[in-house]
Amino acid sequence: MEKKDTLILAIESSCDETAAAVVKNGREVLSNVISSQIALHTLYGGVVPEIASRKHIEKINYVIQEALDEAGVTLQELDAIGVTYGPGLVGALLVGVAEAKAISYAANLPLVGVHHIEGHISANYIENPDLEPPFICLVVSGGHTHLVVVNDYGKYEIIGRTRDDAAGEAFDKVARAIGLGYPGGPKIDKLSKEGNPDAIRFPRAKVEDNEYDFSFSGVKSAVLNHLNGCRMKGEPIVEADIAASFQKAVCDVLVAHAIQAVKNYKIPKLALAGGVASNSTLRQAMKEACEKENIAFYYPSPVLCTDNAAMIGSAAYYEYIGGSRSGLDLNAVPNLRLGER
Ligand code: KG4
Ligand code: ZN
Repeated sequence: MEKKDTLILAIESSCDETAAAVVKNGREVLSNVISSQIALHTLYGGVVPEIASRKHIEKINYVIQEALDEAGVTLQELDAIGVTYGPGLVGALLVGVAEAKAISYAANLPLVGVHHIEGHISANYIENPDLEPPFICLVVSGGHTHLVVVNDYGKYEIIGRTRDDAAGEAFDKVARAIGLGYPGGPKIDKLSKEGNPDAIRFPRAKVEDNEYDFSFSGVKSAVLNHLNGCRMKGEPIVEADIAASFQKAVCDVLVAHAIQAVKNYKIPKLALAGGVASNSTLRQAMKEACEKENIAFYYPSPVLCTDNAAMIGSAAYYEYIGGSRSGLDLNAVPNLRLGER
């Protein structure tokens, strides 16, 4: 008998993107609809949780309908519903979770709760059909910076994490300090192309008792001190040089720790995930380091790096075929840990 395809409708609403996707067999994206609230939150310099929840409620039905229409799939043809249930903003998560539960109940479809970071990691499966665990994944998003050993589908071991700011958070804060606005990562990425990455030597933090851990508060403070110093001495502030030098300091540390993990664990496969994984300097620097060390290097397209539902569909597929099911009592868990259910 021919094996039937598995179709999953995935929903993501953990932060400021309302997203839905239909994914076939975990790796083929039939639709990937994202309604971004960035323009709205830009007015306030960052994500306003209450506004995010309200916008999710306004948009979610349309986004889901568009995802189904674009994929040419009806609810009856689906095998399961996947939804992000944490970590994230509780009010934002609840909109996706309530919606997924309603569809699951009404259409009598199995429900699979997905960890947001597991989604980011799974984004790598979509465009890399040859990628299979085990591999090492550097997850760098607005809320998380994790170095993860992916031992198998759904089996994660976090070996390094940030002690303070997440990488994306550092990008956003530094961007605000030099007047670039929100969201800072893409703006720093762009401005850096006009700057000299060696103009200012910002610190590369080492964390004492875990060689894989990160700390970005030092480099952020160094940027603020540099700005104050310039102002006090009446020296010009060269934003492009600051952006490029900051970006290089952050990327140097991310690359060094990831490569060290690959060497120590003897798993010569490295993947990037999360919003900061779309940073051009990070991708280039990691690619060069991997070529030098003979490490296979994987990274998602920019649209699959930042928040989207296709990645949740991929993660939900592997959870689903592994037998994972959520009940209608599934709740949003804002501080959900990776590997916990
Ligand atoms: O993964 P994501 O979309 O949301 C979270 O789960 O947090 O990541 C958003 C973060 C933001 O901090 C944003 O500034 C950063 O990713 N980001 C970037 C770039 N694009 C997005 N950081 C550096 N360079 C980029 N090109
Ligand atoms: Zn994310």
